[in-house]
Amino acid sequence: MNPAVRPMTVPKFVAAKREGRKLTMLTAYDYSLAVALDEAGVDSILVGDSLGMVMQGQANTLPVTVDEIIYHTKCVCRGVRRALVIADLPFPINHLGVHKTIELSARILKETGCQAVKLEGGAEQASVIAGLVAAGIPVMGHVGLRPQNVLMMGGYRVQRDGETLMADAQAAQDAGAFGVVLEGIPSPLAKGVTTQLAIPTIGIGAGPDCDGQVLVLHDMLGLTPGPVPKFAKAFCDLRGTIQAAVAEYCRQVSEGSFPDEAHSYGS
Ligand code: KIV
Repeated sequence: MNPAVRPMTVPKFVAAKREGRKLTMLTAYDYSLAVALDEAGVDSILVGDSLGMVMQGQANTLPVTVDEIIYHTKCVCRGVRRALVIADLPFPINHLGVHKTIELSARILKETGCQAVKLEGGAEQASVIAGLVAAGIPVMGHVGLRPQNVLMMGGYRVQRDGETLMADAQAAQDAGAFGVVLEGIPSPLAKGVTTQLAIPTIGIGAGPDCDGQVLVLHDMLGLTPGPVPKFAKAFCDLRGTIQAAVAEYCRQVSEGSFPDEAHSYGS
């Protein structure tokens, strides 16, 4: 380990809120992009079950398995020196009871080297969160719009029930979660929850007043094919950049200008 690198830890992550420092989080699923994100200074990398959609082309996150989360989290952890790596618990792990969830989460931690898990849920998942924390597994909650509920919701719907939201976030904190993702909720509700909680809130489609923000990497790089949600700002057009590079490669190969001398072995 390079002594100059000061890794992000769960206590440092929590302290950022007290210090008034905004937290940055992005998803990643592979080694090369994890290296790029880590070197760029992101605080935390989430190996989200969104990998089902952006890596596998599935319609939603439900098909993602524990083995797939482990595979992608291992790849990410090999590339990360500083960021806090969090693995998502795929559907339906956190509904299998406290002991099963501890067993599978511990397997994820042991086999990948990540530092924490995230699970969708708040009040209903409080006993599971408390069990994981008692076992020494740091947990991030996820309340508001829970994508694993997509079939029940009949699509992805902004969640506007302030009482439920507050109760879920508070329950996650009381059960020992070190942070909570707030997804798909109106900004004023997210602001209220953020003010009430001592642990950091990480927003996605939850406005500017959360303690930190997370986006799906492929959305923020402009790589996701097809429509993206309103909140998913693309910070560059990587799809366009890739397509231009590939078109140029094809052109140079077709006309014989690649490979040139600079990219060939003389003898
Ligand atoms: O799976 C995921 O990527 C997530 C984030 C979008 C919060 O849960």
